[in-house]
This record gives sequence, structure tokens and C-alpha cells, in this order.
Amino acid sequence: MESRAMVLEEGKERTTNQVKGLPITLLRVLILFVTICAVFSVISIYTLKHFGIESVVTTTVMKSSFQPCRGEQDRLLDLEDWIRPNSNPIHNMSDKELLWRASFGPRIKDYPFKRVPKVAFMFLTKGPLPLAPLWERFFKGNERLYSIYVHSLPSFQPQFSRSSVFYNRQIPSKVAEWGRMSMCDAERRLLANALLDIYNERFILLSESCIPLYNFSFVYNYMMESKHSFMSVFDDPGPYGRGRYHNEMAPLVNITQWRKGSQWFEVNRKIATRIVEDTRYYPIFEKYCRPACYVDEHYFPTMLSIEAGNALANRSLTWVDWSRGGAHPASFGKSDIREEFIDRVRSRHQCKYNERNSTVCVLFARKFSPSSLKPLLDMDSRVLGF
Ligand SMILES: *[C@@H]1O[C@H](CO)[C@@H](O)[C@H](O)[C@H]1NC(C)=O
Ligand SMILES: *[C@@H]1O[C@H](CO)[C@@H](O)[C@H](O)[C@H]1NC(C)=O
Ligand SMILES: *[C@@H]1O[C@H](CO)[C@@H](O)[C@H](O)[C@H]1NC(C)=O
Ligand SMILES: *[C@@H]1O[C@H](CO)[C@@H](O)[C@H](O)[C@H]1NC(C)=O
Ligand SMILES: *[C@@H]1O[C@H](CO)[C@@H](O)[C@H](O)[C@H]1NC(C)=O
Repeated sequence: MESRAMVLEEGKERTTNQVKGLPITLLRVLILFVTICAVFSVISIYTLKHFGIESVVTTTVMKSSFQPCRGEQDRLLDLEDWIRPNSNPIHNMSDKELLWRASFGPRIKDYPFKRVPKVAFMFLTKGPLPLAPLWERFFKGNERLYSIYVHSLPSFQPQFSRSSVFYNRQIPSKVAEWGRMSMCDAERRLLANALLDIYNERFILLSESCIPLYNFSFVYNYMMESKHSFMSVFDDPGPYGRGRYHNEMAPLVNITQWRKGSQWFEVNRKIATRIVEDTRYYPIFEKYCRPACYVDEHYFPTMLSIEAGNALANRSLTWVDWSRGGAHPASFGKSDIREEFIDRVRSRHQCKYNERNSTVCVLFARKFSPSSLKPLLDMDSRVLGF
């Protein structure tokens, strides 16, 4: 500090000598100016050294704008800086860029930090989420254990309040049409966005008409402890199964390998990565599976049963009622919501869970219309468990 003051003093001296010829008033003004400058510099250098930038910069606005600079100066980046998830899922990556980035993954199994795994709830919707209040209740109190992603029509403007779990959870979306590759693209987009958060371990795809059938902790544990990913996979020899197979798909996909399944999957991180990173099957399905081949019912089930069959439970966690027949499953409204109905949906099943017989086979159900919201919220909280 002293040496700096000296330099400044010398400078002042030199200036004085060089300007002898100038009018005396100008000279005085100049000397005064230089002195003020010198004094001010000394004071600021002193203050900086002793109290740091923060005490000089007093307003909080300025403080926050200084922080990145300060961070780079006196703090080294730690692991946390490389893995911290972004609180806002908005980005401007193209699908190609996004899928590439999402395909990154650790090759070392053990995490060198305490990783509390999260479930990524991925809502594939056209626009609003009429059952949002039910979901809000479901999520309440489990903030560190889940993340939410919503894919809607790009034109849709969500109206969620700041306090909502759905606030700011919209990912950059494109139009998705049932039965077409754009639907699989939307699902891959959801998975890819969710994969960017290293804490997400299980990934469940849901629609705006889905409801949870158990409380959060039950759902969380069921998924986390499962050895398998829940992808519905079956071989349908009929016209709506093998009948949709195209011979040009061989030899990559044989007719004996052709599978069908409901699109509502639940997968772990490994399988999610497989779906996102696929460049092998995608072009074939895009080219040869077009309506009346509904690609969202065949692409993931077929590809995954070839590539990772052992990792699949071959069933979905989402219950849907096809018993009424027709092209669309049954929809439930106000008059259907009764305790017996919920019990019936939950318990009429037999399945394997981690190689053991189980009667808990579905965790979610669809399709529930907006009119079912009130009776669902009014129902005794012991029925759904939340
Ligand atoms: C994203 O934005 C940056 C500038 O902010 C631009 O350079 C880049 O090209 C954009 N990427 C896409 C895919 O739009
Ligand atoms: C969640 O539900 C399960 C079974 O339905 C129950 O045993 C458990 O106590 C419930 N947990 C909470 C936190 O309500
Ligand atoms: C595919 O089918 C052909 C006959 O149609 C058979 O020779 C071949 O072994 C099959 N490949 C696989 C991988 O199943
Ligand atoms: C699901 O089917 C595959 C064959 O495609 C099989 O290898 C796997 O063991 C099945 N999963 C379960 C849990 O039975
Ligand atoms: C599991 O269920 C099957 C029928 O789905 C039955 O044959 C078998 O005995 C059951 N196993 C056990 C251990 O209960």
C-alpha cells in the first residue's frame, strides 16, 4: 500500500515540474485534481485490502452482480458446481443437442457424494393439468425426492402460481401426435430433460388424466426398490400386433422380436439413457412404422426387449380400463369416484415384483376427467393415503 502511494506522489511531482509554463490558476486546479485523485486511490486501495469489495459496495443489487466475479477469484469450482441441477428447465438446445448432452453418464458406479435419488414425474399433456390440485397434495412434504417436467403444446401458456409444484416446470416442447414419431420424440425430450439432473433415478411418464393410487412414500419406495423397469411388452400375433410389422425392418428387427405395449412407462436411469441415446432403431421405426402402425406402441417395447429384455418387468404401472372395448380406454368422471372403485382399481391384480408374487401391481390410473377432481379431493384421505 505504501509503495503505491509513493508512485502516485512521484507522478504528482513530475506533473508539477512539466507544466511550469501554464497559467497559475490552471496549475492550481490541476494540482488540486491530482491530489484528490491520489487521496481517493489510497483510500480505496486501503478499504479494499482491509474490508474486501463487499463493504465498499453497499447495495444488495450491486452485491449480487459482483458475485460471479468474486466467485471466480477466490473460490475453486468443486464437484457440486458440476452436478447441481438447474432450477429452471428452460434452455435453447435443439433436440439433437439435448439428446447428445443427456446421453452423458457416469461410468463409475459409486457416487462420491451423498446422492438422494429422485423420481422424475414427466407429464405429457396438451395443455392444462386439471388434476393438478390432487398432485399438489400428493407431492406435499416430499420436496427433495422428486422433480417435475411438463411437455405441452408449444402454444400453451401455463398459469401456475409461484407456489405450485408445476410452476416453471415446462420444458421446451413441440407438437406431438398420437401414433406418430412426434409422440416418441416428445417422450424422449422429457427423458432427456430429466436426465440432465443427475439426482433423477426413476422416470415415470404420466398424462393429464392420470391419478396416483397411493401416497408418495409408497410410490417412491416401490419404484426405487424395483429391480426392473416397468415397460409394458407383449407379443401380439394378431393384426394389431405382428400385423403392423414391416418386412423392411429385418434384419435389425425380426418379426419374432416385434413387440407391442402401452406407452405409459416407468424406467430407471439406465433404461432412460438407452432410449435417449438410440440412433440404431430410430430411423427404421421412423421410416417403416407409420399409421396404421402406431409407433408409440412399438418402438420402445421392441427396442428395449431386444437390447435389455432382462431389465424389464414387461408390465406398466399405470392402470387403464380397456374392458369397455373400442379404440379408446374408458374414462372416469364424477359419478365413478367412490371408495370401492379406488379399492377395485388397486387390488384386482396379480403380478411379480422383484421375482415375488404381489398384488400391488399398479401405482397410477387413467383416464380421469376434470369432473373427478372434486370427489377425489373430498374423499377420505385414508383411501388414497394422502
Ligand atoms: C442458443 O442461444 C445462443 C445465444 O444465446 C445461440 O448462439 C445459439 O445458436 C442458440 N441455439 C439454438 C439451438 O437456438
Ligand atoms: C403411505 O401408505 C402406506 C400404505 O398405503 C402406509 O403404510 C404409510 O404409512 C403411508 N405413509 C404416509 C407418510 O402417509
Ligand atoms: C430372423 O428371422 C429369420 C427367418 O425369418 C431367421 O433365419 C433368423 O435367425 C432370425 N433372426 C433372429 C435374430 O431372430
Ligand atoms: C420380460 O421379458 C423378457 C423377454 O423379452 C425376459 O427376458 C424378462 O425376464 C421378462 N421380465 C420378467 C420380470 O419376467
Ligand atoms: C405365485 O403365483 C402363481 C400364480 O400366479 C402361483 O402358481 C404360485 O404358487 C405363487 N407362488 C407363491 C410363492 O405364492
